[in-house]
Amino acid sequence: MANPPNRELVVCPDAGSVACDGARRFAGDAAAAIQERGRFAVALSGGSTPKRLFELLAQDPYLEEVDWQNVHFFWSDERYVPPTDPASNYRMAAIALLSSLELPAVNIHRVQTELAPAGAAAEAYEREILALFRPGPGEVPKFDLVLLGLGTNGHTASLFPHSKALHENSRLVVADYVEEVSQWRITMTASLINSAQNVLFLVTGGEKAQVVKDVLFGMPNAEQLPAQLIQPSPGTSVWLMDRAAAGMLPEGAFTFRM
Ligand code: 6PG
Repeated sequence: MANPPNRELVVCPDAGSVACDGARRFAGDAAAAIQERGRFAVALSGGSTPKRLFELLAQDPYLEEVDWQNVHFFWSDERYVPPTDPASNYRMAAIALLSSLELPAVNIHRVQTELAPAGAAAEAYEREILALFRPGPGEVPKFDLVLLGLGTNGHTASLFPHSKALHENSRLVVADYVEEVSQWRITMTASLINSAQNVLFLVTGGEKAQVVKDVLFGMPNAEQLPAQLIQPSPGTSVWLMDRAAAGMLPEGAFTFRM
């Protein structure tokens, strides 16, 4: 598989510099979206690299520079646990970033995991997305930025290998019981993610090197490697990796950023 023109591969020396570059891109996308459309709608992800990025955004210069009052926070996926649970992606972002921003509740669109069953939480979250974007008939909401990670098994958001969620074309959000982690997950579907203006993958660590290579340059096999489903159009994607995660990529396939 060749690298498509709207996909940029960027390699930084380490996980810290991935977070720094990610924070810079987040702030740049926010400024551009707010200037053009008056608001920035972003979907956050869970994981260790985003946590560092959120902590950077909670400090200057970003704390001061970003027009936070016009930022709307969503999540690309969520674990079906209470918002107070240490596994909650919302809780991680709340501690690392949101608690520093003093935003009105209307800016924070978390998955209401208190609702039961998980399918009801997914439906409510889909309604929450539609309420902000108000798409016309047949239109799919267009997030300004979707943050994603990559699992060693090729999953992204909570689109896991061989799961039902991979085949969902009419919904924006679904709930799926993921055997692999014995947990219900609520996830944006590939069709919603692919409508975004920009998708930013944050991938760090040598244990991801093989799957990074397989997803980006291996044979197409989205059942096994769901991250291959993510090909925004007409938007763009950026894969921000540390040297370890990019360790098996062909020379010349990426830009190295100090
Ligand atoms: C989650 C996300 C998942 C995550 C990857 C990578 O766990 O909430 O579903 O897609 O982004 O598993 O996580 P790390 O970056 O922590 O390895």
